[in-house]
Amino acid sequence: MEPPSALPRGGRVPWQDLLLAVSLLTLWNPPTTAQVTVEPVPPSATEGKDVLLQVHNLPGYTGRFNWFKGATIKENRHIVSYIVDTQKTILGPAHSGRETVYPNGSLLFQNITLKDTGVYVLEIINRAYDTAQVTGQVRIFQPLAQPTLHASNTTVTEDKDSVVLTCSTNNPGVSIGWLFNGQSLKLMERMTLSQDNSTLTIRPVRKEDAGNYQCQVSNPGDSRKSDPVRLAVSYEGSTTGILAGVLFGLALAAALGCLLLCTRTGRASGWCDLRELCCAASTPRQVPASSNKLQ
Ligand SMILES: *[C@@H]1O[C@H](CO)[C@@H](O)[C@H](O)[C@H]1NC(C)=O
Ligand SMILES: *[C@@H]1O[C@H](CO)[C@@H](O)[C@H](O)[C@H]1NC(C)=O
Ligand SMILES: *[C@@H]1O[C@H](CO)[C@@H](O)[C@H](O)[C@H]1NC(C)=O
Ligand SMILES: *[C@@H]1O[C@H](CO)[C@@H](O)[C@H](O)[C@H]1NC(C)=O
Repeated sequence: MEPPSALPRGGRVPWQDLLLAVSLLTLWNPPTTAQVTVEPVPPSATEGKDVLLQVHNLPGYTGRFNWFKGATIKENRHIVSYIVDTQKTILGPAHSGRETVYPNGSLLFQNITLKDTGVYVLEIINRAYDTAQVTGQVRIFQPLAQPTLHASNTTVTEDKDSVVLTCSTNNPGVSIGWLFNGQSLKLMERMTLSQDNSTLTIRPVRKEDAGNYQCQVSNPGDSRKSDPVRLAVSYEGSTTGILAGVLFGLALAAALGCLLLCTRTGRASGWCDLRELCCAASTPRQVPASSNKLQ
């Protein structure tokens, strides 16, 4: 921004006007005015949405402002102008029919397209014909399609199997993330991601890996999740456990049977050695007495 150097050229300048001009020009100076900035809202958007190039701190001394597409001011890139005093909007050759300018300087783009991506220049002209330029940027992205997730095997065995989850997307240049039971996946040492994050390998699979997996594709303007894929993990311990349980049950039944047999028939009938053994275990005090009698 150039400091004001000249008063309006030609004609008489009444002293009141001069005083007014001086005081307002002081306001126009950078040290006393807040910096004019252009902020895109939202910062990144997808095609078809609306984006506002929001102007902050448009100086009160502004007489007119012009919006241009591109980094430099070119007449054929002129979108729209606004004359503050007359509240008049003037459309330029680069106006597409989707841009609306507001008295506060902001420029609204409706139904934005990929072609709207780029730099825009706001030229501010004050009442003393000093000009200032501010640039803003619009970033538009393609809406993303839902990615698909595929697992090499959804029913695996703990510590024995590995699983490869593959995320497929039709949108190039997206970043890929992974979700486990709806939360961002915490990568364990057993897990590896391919360079572009599109495949997740779990080797070996552990029982805590069982659950729902999703991949999520995103660009700065959009993000989509795959449908969940459920991974079931069985563990070898489960079959051994059942076997152990069955054996324990059999042993318990045998011991109980033994006990019943001993109490019903008593010691005298002298059946088998097995009964002797189990009766010895269940009624230990009788054992020494009977063995003494036999001697
Ligand atoms: C400018 O005006 C537009 C439309 O009324 C509004 O949406 C926007 O928030 C305003 N910007 C500022 C910085 O006040
Ligand atoms: C938005 O623009 C697209 C082409 O860029 C057009 O097909 C569509 O009808 C427009 N939608 C609205 C609501 O204006
Ligand atoms: C998946 O893993 C299980 C358990 O190891 C195995 O029995 C099955 O054959 C595997 N299925 C496929 C399609 O590889
Ligand atoms: C891969 O994922 C990590 C987080 O797990 C992320 O920081 C990185 O940016 C991703 N890379 C790509 C290419 O998507």
